[in-house]
Amino acid sequence: MIKGDSAQYRFDKTIQGQTITFPVEFIKENGIKDKIYVMCEIPANVVLAEKFLEVAKAEAFEITDAEKKIIRENADEIAALTGEELLDFGCGDGTKAGIILETAKDRDMTTKYRPVDISPRIIFEASARTPKEITIEGRILDFSKPLPKDLKTTDKSTFALFGSTLGNGNARYQEELMKNFAGAMQEKDNLLVGVQLNYDFETILKKYQDPEVSSFAEPMLRNLGIEKEDVELYVSGDKEEQTIQLNIKMLKDKEISIEKNKVNLPKGKVINLIVSHKYEIPEMEHLAEIAGLKIKKSFLNPESSYGIFVLEK
Ligand SMILES: C[S@@+](CC[C@H](N)C(=O)[O-])C[C@H]1O[C@@H](n2cnc3c(N)ncnc32)[C@H](O)[C@@H]1O
Repeated sequence: MIKGDSAQYRFDKTIQGQTITFPVEFIKENGIKDKIYVMCEIPANVVLAEKFLEVAKAEAFEITDAEKKIIRENADEIAALTGEELLDFGCGDGTKAGIILETAKDRDMTTKYRPVDISPRIIFEASARTPKEITIEGRILDFSKPLPKDLKTTDKSTFALFGSTLGNGNARYQEELMKNFAGAMQEKDNLLVGVQLNYDFETILKKYQDPEVSSFAEPMLRNLGIEKEDVELYVSGDKEEQTIQLNIKMLKDKEISIEKNKVNLPKGKVINLIVSHKYEIPEMEHLAEIAGLKIKKSFLNPESSYGIFVLEK
């Protein structure tokens, strides 16, 4: 049940007979405010957002390949849409933006690269991969909060949110994110949103249940001071909500430290480490509409397993 009013993104849910505490509740319970990061929803990840780079490199992370392929195959059209600056929100290692920037450079369309992330190290990593002819201006910020007014520096900017980052939170989170982007956009700007589509939920779930995917969680656990043996690590799926979760269940009582806080994790507690929503196209239309945007163009792969949507005001 989503308790949207009690806390912005707070919800508990019973999945396969097990009540799962979702990240924001966990964070709030433990007195850690203002730290809610996508793909790093639990504080373990907050401290080591950089671990995403390892995740992205894992072969099993096939959504990355699907998105890169769409960008590569439509690079001319996407680069032409891009305008004078590319604001790459949650830039990760920057390889997707890199394909667009390479194309823009080869066609003499000067585009400034603006990697935007909560993690400075990630911004450095993305910048290091950028063609040297491109001007880079990174920005460290939390995009789950309203975006600053001075973010855009040119008349026609493209905002990008790749990597299905939009789906790393519940419906409320997704709406807020879209509104934040829309609030910072002007008439000539575009927003490119790349998301995994719900082509066949059972197949997607099976892919996530691959042990290699579950091993994404291991760096997060190490960072929290939790041994692999302390937990049961499992992937659950909620077909109705079109959501996949990567969870840990405590196999023994454990006290851990998160920043200055001591946190008790009793035996049996389940914590969701990663949540990933899978989209239907009408949902994207709905999210755009709520934020006052419309979908101008969609790039889907032939399997319709991944889509990049171009939105405008
Ligand atoms: C799912 S990854 C996507 C990375 C990259 N765009 C890709 O497609 O490979 C999410 C990225 O968003 C960043 N991030 C997560 N939450 C954030 C927030 N609230 N504000 C800014 N950056 C955030 C993470 O550090 C990470 O780089």
